[in-house]
Amino acid sequence: SYQPKNILVTGGAGFIGSNFVRYLLGAAKDVNVVNLDLLTYAGNPDNLKGMDGEERHTLVQGDICDRALVDRLLREHSIDTVVHFAAESHVDRSITAPGEFVRTNIEGTYCLLEACRQFWQTEQKLDKETLQQTRRFHHISTDEVYGTLELDDPAFTEETPFAPNSPYSASKAASDHLVRAYFHTYGLPVTTTNCSNNYGFYHFPEKLIPLVILNALGQKPLPIYGDGKNVRDWLFVADHASAIHRVIESGRLGETYNVGGWNEKTNLEVVDTICSLLNELKPREDKVSYTEQITFVKDRPGHDRRYAIDATKLERELGWRPAETFETGMRKTIEWYLANQPWLNNVVSGDYRKWVEKQY
Ligand code: NAD
Ligand code: DAU
Repeated sequence: SYQPKNILVTGGAGFIGSNFVRYLLGAAKDVNVVNLDLLTYAGNPDNLKGMDGEERHTLVQGDICDRALVDRLLREHSIDTVVHFAAESHVDRSITAPGEFVRTNIEGTYCLLEACRQFWQTEQKLDKETLQQTRRFHHISTDEVYGTLELDDPAFTEETPFAPNSPYSASKAASDHLVRAYFHTYGLPVTTTNCSNNYGFYHFPEKLIPLVILNALGQKPLPIYGDGKNVRDWLFVADHASAIHRVIESGRLGETYNVGGWNEKTNLEVVDTICSLLNELKPREDKVSYTEQITFVKDRPGHDRRYAIDATKLERELGWRPAETFETGMRKTIEWYLANQPWLNNVVSGDYRKWVEKQY
């Protein structure tokens, strides 16, 4: 199997990227990670806590669209593997301001692909066989590229045609196509994973699960879009990290792998689960259930009805399985948020931004 050594992780101060870096440094002893992150509103060095003194990890604040910087990092750190998380990731933000999604998700991916092609093929002069044996570009993508499902449709497979419906998913679909094209045209050793909705530690509280936890604890409304019956397929973030690692090590080049845990839930079911765990672990002082705070609000424009991932290929070919069920993962998640309220308060108060400005 392929063993990465000097890895450029992009977006590794975000939610999934930071969980991946922590996972990888634990799982693989002989790796060095250069973590390139612009530290936008979503990137937070606090997500990398505990890794400050880690010699195998270096955080660099910078833009994946900055070609000179990317070229320098590839060269200076002899990068053999790129693991590409950096993106604008929030669907609602893409509806109000799509421009940054086109820039980071499409142009940024293009910049990284082109920099790798130049570095590995032109500068290091690797022939196709050596390139494909000794280098990797792994691209992280989403199930949203496949569009939306009716309730009785089968789950998305890797053969499902792309039909993105939001500026976010359209920009991710474009980036997936670029990655594919660099394999077919230039022989770049790429792999891609398309994953369902993640949840877990260090999740930014603009997304449904951490927002509901935050608002529940702050005695604020728990906003449910539309009728609350939209379905998402949930995966614990550490399971996503293990799937990415498995695909980098053993995935076939040029292939895409769907990642999911067969955990379809309506949004109302998700919010009910959060409320009952909080009722158990941190009951409201008045002993009233947190479900009292549920409030139905205006629907998201173009709101996809249902996502569901068929992860059979990953399971059959690479033997990957998630370690957590929705129930065990959600319990860990709620316990983590209750034990890490300073992290949450810091994110919400914006204090971490001031810290970032001082440090970088
Ligand atoms: P996130 O918003 O938490 O993190 C994104 C990170 O990228 C942040 O740290 C941000 O600072 C950084 N970034 C943004 N623009 C950048 C730029 N121009 N240059 C360098 N860094 C930049 O997102 P996330 O939820 O961790 O998602 C990570 C990846 O996984 C994305 O590619 C997303 O499309 C994909 N994905 C997410 C989910 C999910 O449920 N969250 C599911 C499937 C796939
Ligand atoms: O499917 C993978 C995708 O999951 C990733 O590619 C995206 O980066 C990630 O943000 C996520 O997208 P969603 O739109 O599914 O996640 P979000 O947490 O924004 O919303 C989940 C569901 O909850 C969705 O049906 C909208 C609904 N929702 C969301 C928010 C923020 C609410 O009902 N109320 C809310 O306040």
